Formats: sequence, C-alpha cells, structure tokens
Amino acid sequence: MTYSNLTVDIADRIATITVNRPDKLNALNDATIAELGVAIDAAIANDSVGAVILTGAGRAFVAGADISELASQSPLEAQARARAGQTVFRKFETSPKPTIAAVNGFSLGGGCELAMACHLRIASDKAKFGQPEAKLGIVPGFGGSQRLPRLIGRGAALKLLLTGDMIDATEAHRLGLADDVVPADQLMDRVRALATTMLANGPLALAGCIDAVNRGLDTSLEEGCRIESDLFGLLSATADMREGMQAFLDKRPATFTGR
Ligand code: COA
Repeated sequence: MTYSNLTVDIADRIATITVNRPDKLNALNDATIAELGVAIDAAIANDSVGAVILTGAGRAFVAGADISELASQSPLEAQARARAGQTVFRKFETSPKPTIAAVNGFSLGGGCELAMACHLRIASDKAKFGQPEAKLGIVPGFGGSQRLPRLIGRGAALKLLLTGDMIDATEAHRLGLADDVVPADQLMDRVRALATTMLANGPLALAGCIDAVNRGLDTSLEEGCRIESDLFGLLSATADMREGMQAFLDKRPATFTGR
C-alpha cells in the first residue's frame, strides 16, 4: 500500500506509522484519517507485526484536525467527519497489539485525541498537549471530551477543554496524560525499547490485557471482573500459557507463538 500522508516502516515486529504532512504540522485532513485507518488495519492483520508506534514527521506529532477542511463544513458533514475519525481512532484503542504514541511535538486537538486513543503516550520533552477546540468555537470531535476525563479526571480535563491552553510534557506527565517524558533525541529508541519489552510477552496475553482494560473501563467493577475471569480461563487453553509457565519452571526465557 502506498500512502500519500503517512509512512509505514516495519522492523523487529514493530510497525511505525508516521503522519507525514510536516508543512501542515501533520494536521489531520480526511485523507490522512482514512489512511490511518488503512494503516492500523494492515498492522493488525500482519502476522509479522506485534506492536505499533504512532508518531509525526518534523516538529509536530499532530497539530489537530485540518482547520482548512473544518472551516466550511455543514452540521451534517461535521457530524460525519467526527464519526469517521472516531471510528479510525477506536481501531488504535481496540487493537489487540499494543499501540504507543511517540509524541514528538505538538499534540493538539485531534492530535491529543489520537494520542489518547493509543494504549500509551510517551512524550518528548519538547511535546506540547492541548485541546484548543473551544478557541475555534467548537467542541472536540474525535473523542477528546470523553477520553480526556477518563484519563486525567473531570476537573483537570475540563480545565484543558475550557481554557484551550497548551501544556508542556512535564505537566502532561504530572496529569497522567503522558505516561513518560524522555529527551527528544531519545524518544524513538525509548519507545522502541518499550515495545520490545512488550513483544517478549505472549501476544494473546497482551491482547487479553488490552481487551480486559478496554471493556472493563466501560462497565461495572463486577462485570469487569467477570470479563477478566473469562479471559483468564480462555488463556489457560493456550499453548502460550503452557510455554510461559514451563519456561518459568525451567528457568529459561519463554518462546511464545500466539497459539
Ligand atoms: N489545521 C490546518 N493547518 C494547520 C494546523 C491545523 N490544525 N496546524 C498548523 N497548521 C499549518 C499552519 O496553517 C501553517 O501552514 P502555512 O505554512 O501554510 O501557513 C503550518 O501548519 C505551520 O503552522 P504555524 O501556525 O505557522 O506554526 P507555529 O509554530 O507558528 O504555531 C501551532 C504552531 C501548533 C501553535 C499553530 O499552528 C496552531 O495553533 N495550530 C492549530 C492548533 C489547533 O487549533 N488544533 C485543533 C484543531 S481542531
């Protein structure tokens, strides 16, 4: 697949998807969002990929939805655009393979929303986060009003949403919006090392953890625990469980096959 607005690189079982419109600070136009959907679907379907890193080319991660497209939208076009983006972002969130946002720079509006849809966000010390939609007279459209309070709490989320202020990586980390902050020149190495640590674990276990967290957060504690015990039971039917436990008993590294 050839992309116009992304690059995709696969190495060491890690697919690195880079949003590549640096002259527009990687603003998400409709075409880029559609390509992100194709790229994450392809990574999920590719047996040689075990984890996904999402980043941006140049000085931005993603500086938001492309305002030049939003400016002329009708209400129904806006609703359809929001739903299309939400559908694509949800693919990153429900991916059975870990998705990690390597936040290299501006992560604003749709960029912050895209990072939040990933399982983890590792920020460069040059990254900036924010939901500036209110400054444009709109609300977030790609899940920001929902994921931000779930991630950092109601008050902190409303502060960012209602002020539209940008915060730096240290503050994002303090709030729990960024999971770690690393020096800019080490960002990709650190994120690849994190992905590699995950890839040493059983892929079915990774998928199970993601599924348990995703579904559990959308339901009651009791129901979430039932989801967990069902997955715990299911994983016990796998060769990977037998291998993981036998490897521990044999005092050797496990070799997982995803079966
Ligand atoms: N949509 C469309 N184009 C965007 C964009 C966006 N969200 N963000 C940046 N760009 C474009 C700029 O229009 C500019 O294009 P040009 O060179 O053709 O004029 C280019 O990217 C560089 O941006 P610029 O504003 O010149 O860089 P800066 O360093 O002065 O400011 C930002 C950086 C991120 C503070 C500023 O670009 C900005 O506020 N962007 C919008 C953020 C936003 O509101 N996002 C939410 C959208 S819903």
